[in-house]
Amino acid sequence: MRRRPTQGSLSATGHTLLAVVVDDEAWDRDAEAPNRQMTATWDRATNELHLHNGRISYLARVLEDGSLGHLYFGPALMPGRSYWHLGHRPFEGFSNRVGEPIAREYPTGGGGDFRVPALVAEPADGSTVLHLAYAGHRILPGKPALQGLPATYVEADEEAETVEILLRDAPSGIEVALLYTVFAAAPVVARSARIRNGGTQPVRVRCAMSASLDLPDAAWDLVQLSGTWARERHVVTRPLAPGRQSIASLRGASSHEHNPFIVLARSRTTEDAGEAYGFSLVYSGNFLAEVEVDAFDSARVRLGISPESFSWTLDPGAELSVPEVVLAYSGAGLGALSDAYHWLYRQRLARGAWRDRVRPVLINNWEATYFDFGEARLLEIAASAREMGIEAFVLDDGWFGERDHDTSSLGDWFVDRRKLPDGLDGLARKVEALGMRFGLWIEPEMVSRRSRLFEEHPDWAIGVPGRPRTESRNQLVLDLSRREIVDHLFAVLRDVLGSAPISYVKWDMNRSITEPYSPALAADRQGEFFHRYILGVYDLYERLVTAFPDILFESCAGGGGRFDPGILAYAPQGWTSDDTDAVERLRIQWGTSLVYPLSSMGAHVAAVPNHQVGRVVPLHTRAAVAFFGVLGYELDPTALSPDERRAVADQVAFYKEHRELFQRGRFVRLRSPFEGDGNEVAWMTVADDRRRAVVGWYRILNDPEPRLDRIRLRGLDPADLYRVTPWPTAGDITESRNALVRGGDDLMSAGIIIASNRRETATRGDFQARLFVLEAVDAG
Ligand code: DGJ
Repeated sequence: MRRRPTQGSLSATGHTLLAVVVDDEAWDRDAEAPNRQMTATWDRATNELHLHNGRISYLARVLEDGSLGHLYFGPALMPGRSYWHLGHRPFEGFSNRVGEPIAREYPTGGGGDFRVPALVAEPADGSTVLHLAYAGHRILPGKPALQGLPATYVEADEEAETVEILLRDAPSGIEVALLYTVFAAAPVVARSARIRNGGTQPVRVRCAMSASLDLPDAAWDLVQLSGTWARERHVVTRPLAPGRQSIASLRGASSHEHNPFIVLARSRTTEDAGEAYGFSLVYSGNFLAEVEVDAFDSARVRLGISPESFSWTLDPGAELSVPEVVLAYSGAGLGALSDAYHWLYRQRLARGAWRDRVRPVLINNWEATYFDFGEARLLEIAASAREMGIEAFVLDDGWFGERDHDTSSLGDWFVDRRKLPDGLDGLARKVEALGMRFGLWIEPEMVSRRSRLFEEHPDWAIGVPGRPRTESRNQLVLDLSRREIVDHLFAVLRDVLGSAPISYVKWDMNRSITEPYSPALAADRQGEFFHRYILGVYDLYERLVTAFPDILFESCAGGGGRFDPGILAYAPQGWTSDDTDAVERLRIQWGTSLVYPLSSMGAHVAAVPNHQVGRVVPLHTRAAVAFFGVLGYELDPTALSPDERRAVADQVAFYKEHRELFQRGRFVRLRSPFEGDGNEVAWMTVADDRRRAVVGWYRILNDPEPRLDRIRLRGLDPADLYRVTPWPTAGDITESRNALVRGGDDLMSAGIIIASNRRETATRGDFQARLFVLEAVDAG
């Protein structure tokens, strides 16, 4: 029987740091059953914490100086034993070497640890030396919510256990509550922290990381997802070197340039073998993900809000919650690491009615019309798409104010009657009469200089009084750090979304933030601006998803400029990239899949020549890439030839038939576009019960004499027999070799055969794709 905490009253929102019980009584609650599969135990004799779920262990202990030391994070260790020996002695002046690594859970500077800190806080005397000593802990069933911040959650207390450890710096009264949640179902630990000023004078927090983790060696490759607009989240791998290496965003959003996610992997780690640690920050604003390798070859990893653009003043009694980091460990390669994140982010981060529903196939009018449309044109597109089986029509930018180009009207969220004489309601009802859902694009956080909103409230746009504001895409950013602006946007958007049968919203955000400053904040609190901005975004999202629980929200930021776990908690899918070229999308979707599930990735078939790169990729290949995600079309369907229309109708029907697999199956990466010459790429998605799968294989440039290729599949049942059916069936040599029943062992050990004869090689050309459907057949 699990004993629940009898003291303290940590609320469901987890605010009340003071309620953490201290010392002896906390130790008394530690006799947890050690043989449970998932346990959070605190051993009273050794002062050790052991989080365990049968796959991973996370260990910490109170050191002799009272600070909280880190012992271990990795493959599960036997519960009920002491791992005291894995820790370091705390710094003791000259009895140990200055700067020798001491692994601590939440390191601070100035006390003999010269590596990057987790916390820098300045009490009234201007010092930054803190000694955070253990003051108590408690173990909670389940997982409390984080105040005002998106976070992973549980649906039943049995799914997870949370340990809250209170640390206190006695001279200043600064308190830190460290939160650790171990989930039963995945090899992950979610960490976050709350900083509280328990003193009598204001404290300035200059750095408050979400987590810091010390690893005992530095023989790791740092894997990051980097790029820019239209080529987001490419996989970049580099070996760790002595010193600091980091990725960060200072743009006000998590950014196209770097995703708030890193992996440390051994150089020999592959998709299905070897060790990897994942670090994923559940946050959408300025961030830092950093690894420091010290002279003793230990590696310190820290993630959190970027300290470069942050400070926060805590008045006496005030507290600050920092975002969550999800740590994951895999001893079985990057694939298993992704499996853990995919499950957690699809099932216990994404929320709302659409979390578990299959998503509609949509047509978006952006690349078909840009700003140049009227109701008749839109209905023509919708009707034409409907004939091919498409289920939703999404009206993109240009429906409001006088938005004929990108120089005006953002902020004026009233319908442009020149274009839509019957209003949104009229259009939406006509779309619904076609048997389709209606979706709408909005960009709430922005304002155009040429807009009524700007005329009325020029001071609502972010900028430093007396200095010019930098425009980007001819627009300014509204100051969402201010409550009254969030209130205004909520009221306006509630009216818009309530004015018509809207069942889908694409929430865009098309520029980075410059001249960060809010007149609503005191001069010495301007360091709070960026974080308060993102809290405002979260607040607006929360209010809108609560008011409209049946609307499917899709996030977007000039494509994938804010594609992160923070936003995923509100919008269960995101527009992966503005780049719809299938070749580029192989790289983008592969990289994105390292951490994000297929259900989160909007993937569209667009016209050729492609609007971003001018490439002409066959329609089949464009679809064969877009299938692995949430399918949509972003082209003018009325411009398609009869053959193309038949092909699109077949694609939509095929996708619907296998939609569960494409959106919710286990995604298995087989051949990387980032390895070798990257010319051939393969991946697959497998049903949970392993009875169905779809494999995608892609060759970018054709070869005159291509090799006989075999792709070893993964994730099948070796004992099952699978019917292998190429799609669409065309009777070529590859198909004749595979169109038979083969064992799961055969397909995984020998591989699916990609063969071509000369005739095919000559006719297939560049940018080929092949798809294979695998269905288990009962032997007999
Ligand atoms: C950027 C988005 O990524 C595009 O899909 C489109 O919605 C445009 N903005 C509209 O301005």
